[in-house]
Amino acid sequence: MSWFDLAGRDLISELDWTREEYDIAMKVSDQLKGLTYSGKAHPYLEYKTFAMLFFAGSTRTRMSFETAMTQLGGHSQFLNPSTMRMSLEDKPGAGETVKDTAKAMARFCDGIGIRLLDDSVDYYGHGDLVMKKFAEHAEVPIINMASDINHPCQSLTDIYTMHEKLGSVRGKKIVVMWAYTPWVRGRCSVQGTALISAMYGMDVVVANPPEYDFDPTILGQCRDLASKSGGSFEVEHDLDKALDGATVVFPRNWFTDRRYDIGKEEELKIAQNYVDWRFTSDRQKRLCDPGHLLQCMPVDRGNEADPEVCDNDLSWIYDQAENRLHTQKAILTLTMGGRI
Ligand code: CP
Repeated sequence: MSWFDLAGRDLISELDWTREEYDIAMKVSDQLKGLTYSGKAHPYLEYKTFAMLFFAGSTRTRMSFETAMTQLGGHSQFLNPSTMRMSLEDKPGAGETVKDTAKAMARFCDGIGIRLLDDSVDYYGHGDLVMKKFAEHAEVPIINMASDINHPCQSLTDIYTMHEKLGSVRGKKIVVMWAYTPWVRGRCSVQGTALISAMYGMDVVVANPPEYDFDPTILGQCRDLASKSGGSFEVEHDLDKALDGATVVFPRNWFTDRRYDIGKEEELKIAQNYVDWRFTSDRQKRLCDPGHLLQCMPVDRGNEADPEVCDNDLSWIYDQAENRLHTQKAILTLTMGGRI
């Protein structure tokens, strides 16, 4: 492991980088945050361009990457795939292939970010597959800005925020809890937060109704990471029991493994059996004192979490949102920059 190893690297899954590499990214995030708050210019990516391909909507990811490139002295290019030539179908007559798109785009830019999930994909794993195809053909770093499986930029932000707030995270209990909302949501952020927390030796509990188990591959990765880091990982179907003594809770909806077979309406019918799965003020009392809300946003206030727990002093959600900027500046600088 060395700092140089991150130059030119992709970041598609949380597991693409090692814990030592995330340590470097957090150190650089701290430095860049310090420069931002001290008003010192840091144009480390002058004249460089980051292309951002958004197949799905975004508030934080788009704004934080655009602002990041402005503050680093470069430019970000927002690309709406519906205005481009590409087709994900990859068959004659459908449109330009992913390969040709990736190779051509790489001639114009220094890194490519892709968001591909939810209604933009035909099956679970499709978004991840397309990103890997981009990585195979584009000769610039591919950064996952949220796929159907992973959200490594958010995961880095979450572990950075927990370090910033708690100092050491090792041995602290985090509960990633399924929460009701009529929005049918993807798994990328919950799976990503569980992975990175297990990598850093936290006691990770995923609390969900039985139909909502994580992807088995991700469950295996969480268990492996926890056993290597000295943390722990468990799945719990009793929500209140899961919350007991936790330092951090991340309440968020995610879909079942049948989402792309049964469609959103049937998914919603399953979710309606669990409307009482919410992070409420009463449930906050079960956490350790103090126990904090970590939520990557957008949050469905009144469903996933009570407005009171989003707004009280134990909530980290706005600091967490801001940290997307600082951590992504580190990702961009380390992957698209280089030694002087
Ligand atoms: N947390 C997150 O990725 O937010 P956006 O969907 O608004 O980008």
